[in-house]
Amino acid sequence: MLSDAPTLHVHDLTVPLGGRSVVRHVALDVRPGEFVTVLGGNGSGKSTLVRAATGLLPHTSGEVRLFGTPVADFRDWHRIGYVPQRPSAASGVPATVREIVTAGRLSRRRLLRPLRHADKAAVQAALTSVDLADRAGESVAELSGGQQQRVLIARALATEPDLLVLDEPTAGVDLEHQQLLARVLAAHAARGVAIVLVAHELGPLARLIDRVVVLRDGRVTFDGTPDAEAAAFAHSHDQHHPLDPNSGGARAVVLGPGWQAGERR
Ligand SMILES: Nc1ncnc2c1ncn2[C@@H]1O[C@H](COP(=O)(O)OP(=O)(O)OP(=O)(O)O)[C@@H](O)[C@H]1O
Ligand SMILES: [Mg+2]
Repeated sequence: MLSDAPTLHVHDLTVPLGGRSVVRHVALDVRPGEFVTVLGGNGSGKSTLVRAATGLLPHTSGEVRLFGTPVADFRDWHRIGYVPQRPSAASGVPATVREIVTAGRLSRRRLLRPLRHADKAAVQAALTSVDLADRAGESVAELSGGQQQRVLIARALATEPDLLVLDEPTAGVDLEHQQLLARVLAAHAARGVAIVLVAHELGPLARLIDRVVVLRDGRVTFDGTPDAEAAAFAHSHDQHHPLDPNSGGARAVVLGPGWQAGERR
């Protein structure tokens, strides 16, 4: 593994789904401690991109490297935390909050070995960081949608990843817990964790963003700083910018106040 390799390296990536390429010739590098957000309208390929980038979907052409290693050869899955787009924690199998979050430790543990102190501590820290420590013994199925979403975030945090990929993690999560998540992610980024966030509305997370990548119809149409993105949008005659599903320049709704340089973290 190359020591100076980006955490995530995506080059000329094309991903087919249902007989057509839904991600097309995408390039994306994410470095340690960098916080990148992927924006774009429904169906623009955001989830497909992050799933292919974390080895969950095969690609037909191009290259994905994780920590310098081609994805086909990558084995250190405990270094990656992934929060899927829709809550699936409660699908069928009855499980407690603690069991779901503990599943985040599985890739670190030898099969069937008892939980070590470090595992229990990581699970407890993850539960606390999403404010669910007091619900640990409850069935996930009995939590609200936003609480279930926070369980999935805790599961990803419990792996103690070096790359954290979150696909619309704050959908359905109230403002107070979005602010809590922003503090937790800021602390992770400050420790060198690379973060890739897919989002429609950034809310309190906006101030953390180092780079914005905009997808449209499977292609990257913008890759740069939030400032550059705001300038590009201001000079655009595009009435249907992917940042703003309602168009008309309601940027504050998307990026929120206080996202300018100097106010982050
Ligand atoms: N399993 C699948 N089979 C076929 N096509 C798919 C499949 N999953 C997604 N697609 C198509 O791929 C395209 C991109 O989907 P994707 O889920 O990546 O979009 P997205 O940008 O994440 O959208 P959203 O904002 O709604 O989450 C869409 O046109 C979708 O219909
Ligand atoms: Mg999606």
